Amino acid sequence: MLFRVGFAAGLVAAVSAAPAVTTTADTGEYTPLPYSYNQSPSVNSAAVSSAASVAGIPAAEIPGATNAVPPVISSQVTGVTSHGPYTGTATTTGAVSNSPAGTAIPVLPPNPTALVYNPNGTLNNQEPIPYQPAGGLGTNGTEPVYRVQSDFDYMSILLGLYQEWIELDLFHNILATFSEEEFTAAGLTPSDRFLIEFMADQESGHATMLSNLLGGPGGATPQCTYNYPFKTVHEAFDFTQKLTRFGESGVWGFQAHLDSREVAQLLDQSIATEARQQMIFRQFAGLFPMPVWFETGIPQSWAWTLLAPYISSCPADSKRLAWQNFPALNVLNQPNSARWNASQTGLNETTGFGPAAPSSDVPESESCIARNDTGFSCKAAVSQNRTIPLSYPGREVYLSWEEPGKLVGPNNSYVTDTKASAPQFVIWVSQLNVTYSPLTNISKQGELNYGMTIQPDVSTYEGDPAINGTMFIALTDADLPFTAFNLSMVNPHVAAGPFLYQAG
Ligand SMILES: *[C@@H]1O[C@H](CO)[C@@H](O)[C@H](O)[C@H]1NC(C)=O
Ligand SMILES: *[C@@H]1O[C@H](CO)[C@@H](O)[C@H](O)[C@H]1NC(C)=O
Ligand SMILES: *[C@@H]1O[C@H](CO)[C@@H](O)[C@H](O)[C@H]1NC(C)=O
Ligand SMILES: *[C@@H]1O[C@H](CO)[C@@H](O)[C@H](O)[C@H]1NC(C)=O
Ligand SMILES: *[C@@H]1O[C@H](CO)[C@@H](O)[C@H](O)[C@H]1NC(C)=O
Ligand SMILES: *[C@@H]1O[C@H](CO)[C@@H](O)[C@H](O)[C@H]1NC(C)=O
Ligand SMILES: *[C@@H]1O[C@H](CO)[C@@H](O)[C@H](O)[C@H]1NC(C)=O
Ligand SMILES: *[C@@H]1O[C@H](CO)[C@@H](O)[C@H](O)[C@H]1NC(C)=O
Ligand SMILES: *[C@@H]1O[C@H](CO)[C@@H](O)[C@H](O)[C@H]1NC(C)=O
Ligand SMILES: *[C@@H]1O[C@H](CO)[C@@H](O)[C@H](O)[C@H]1NC(C)=O
Ligand SMILES: *[C@@H]1O[C@H](CO)[C@@H](O)[C@H](O)[C@H]1NC(C)=O
Repeated sequence: MLFRVGFAAGLVAAVSAAPAVTTTADTGEYTPLPYSYNQSPSVNSAAVSSAASVAGIPAAEIPGATNAVPPVISSQVTGVTSHGPYTGTATTTGAVSNSPAGTAIPVLPPNPTALVYNPNGTLNNQEPIPYQPAGGLGTNGTEPVYRVQSDFDYMSILLGLYQEWIELDLFHNILATFSEEEFTAAGLTPSDRFLIEFMADQESGHATMLSNLLGGPGGATPQCTYNYPFKTVHEAFDFTQKLTRFGESGVWGFQAHLDSREVAQLLDQSIATEARQQMIFRQFAGLFPMPVWFETGIPQSWAWTLLAPYISSCPADSKRLAWQNFPALNVLNQPNSARWNASQTGLNETTGFGPAAPSSDVPESESCIARNDTGFSCKAAVSQNRTIPLSYPGREVYLSWEEPGKLVGPNNSYVTDTKASAPQFVIWVSQLNVTYSPLTNISKQGELNYGMTIQPDVSTYEGDPAINGTMFIALTDADLPFTAFNLSMVNPHVAAGPFLYQAG
């Protein structure tokens, strides 16, 4: 306990309680700005007396009880608590950019040093100390520095902070929007509602940590105003299990590439929590909690494309992102998770807008929310095993997608773009691999393009069908092979998407 308190306080000190701004020309060292909000750790005397009264001993005898605790960053955006679309015109548009050195990263053979180590069960190199095998990064005694170390790190964590802020607002908004009766009808108990409140609190901690990693107000970005597509409890949970899926997968896509191992460490410790949240929202939506063996990773530009449509405007001092917004892709027959027989899903059975638009509620006789029998009910539960799966290999999937050049995101200030030629394939990104299906029956009506494909049948390992759960599809101009570690190299080939396909 004492260790944990000391660690948390030390972290804040190392990251952000810096005395002054200095950029020393000789060493090139930079000291982050201090925060404008009060970051001083303080003692909550009410909490201290409460702990002492429960324990029945003086607070001074409970280790850590009287230690000061660091505060969370404020989420108050000039008093804004409204939601809805943005109608104004932006003064700045487009992603942050300078003068890119090229148009595509070259494909190279493996690094020769990666082909040397012999995992034959013996120690290949001398141990530095007893019980410490040689190797590892950040294991040689240098003091950890919890700070982004490159533009890649900065822009990745900034994207992460945009995601944490919307989750904080969304979880609170769900609690504020629906009545106790509506939650009860969806199968939620008072304890379940408290869990949503607790998950919102977790988000304020994540937003605080990521703000610290970005180096104070010079680098962090404030909370924005959001626009949500749901109208009912089930739709809200379906939207949230999709939004937390791209939040989690967005981090799995970049965390192993960060220059700062220290930042990756802290990020993992927050994303482990986010992953639990995603599963809980699936359970609240009455979906099978985890129908895959591995959670997939997606590139930052995919996560930003999925997130941007739900941010309506951000304060003037917001930091801008460098990632790409791809043209929007839509599945016209997105499997409807509110049906007990999703095979009967028709066209446009979603509510609202955007790549995470929730499945719309259907009449009671077709609804799984109204049922309570095993295999057909989708009331909130630890596990609901559908007798009729949401999707199946061989399913015809109908698609529509936009041309580039549309304004999206905060203050309509980002512009969708693609560097790809005409799309020919649908890429399916799930678990450890990608797979492709041909894009067929392509047509254009008005401003929208239409096409279709067939849901593939591939397995990660025997017994683990790869395409299941809340997963990702996009349109590409080529069918190159990728794994999670090099998937961002697909970006110059993406013509539209990604979109969250509700495979299961
Ligand atoms: C294992 O590999 C290392 C490095 O190539 C080598 O030095 C060592 O002799 C090998 N041990 C065995 C038991 O093969
Ligand atoms: C310790 O490891 C870091 C990389 O993790 C390296 O930059 C640094 O030079 C090493 N320091 C020593 C004293 O070997
Ligand atoms: C976005 O719009 C809001 C509301 O009009 C405005 O207050 C804010 O300054 C704008 N943000 C930026 C970054 O221009
Ligand atoms: C589910 O819907 C499909 C498509 O309409 C139909 O063929 C099937 O019989 C239905 N299943 C049940 C159990 O009603
Ligand atoms: C579904 O939406 C698409 C795109 O907005 C539209 O073209 C189509 O007519 C709609 N279909 C139905 C059945 O509503
Ligand atoms: C399911 O609902 C029916 C009708 O409302 C009710 O009679 C039955 O007791 C319920 N069964 C369970 C297991 O809750
Ligand atoms: C769960 O679903 C699977 C796949 O649809 C099915 O094979 C299995 O029998 C179901 N199990 C139960 C207990 O309903
Ligand atoms: C997804 O997994 C669930 C649970 O195992 C299973 O019932 C369902 O058939 C799977 N769906 C697909 C598309 O494989
Ligand atoms: C999927 O990815 C894993 C891990 O990179 C790899 O071992 C496996 O061969 C890939 N499977 C397919 C079917 O591409
Ligand atoms: C797609 O195109 C093929 C070949 O032109 C045609 O046979 C098929 O009916 C089309 N499918 C749909 C759903 O339009
Ligand atoms: C991505 O990595 C896989 C190995 O995991 C490799 O087979 C593939 O060729 C790489 N793709 C590109 C475009 O470099």
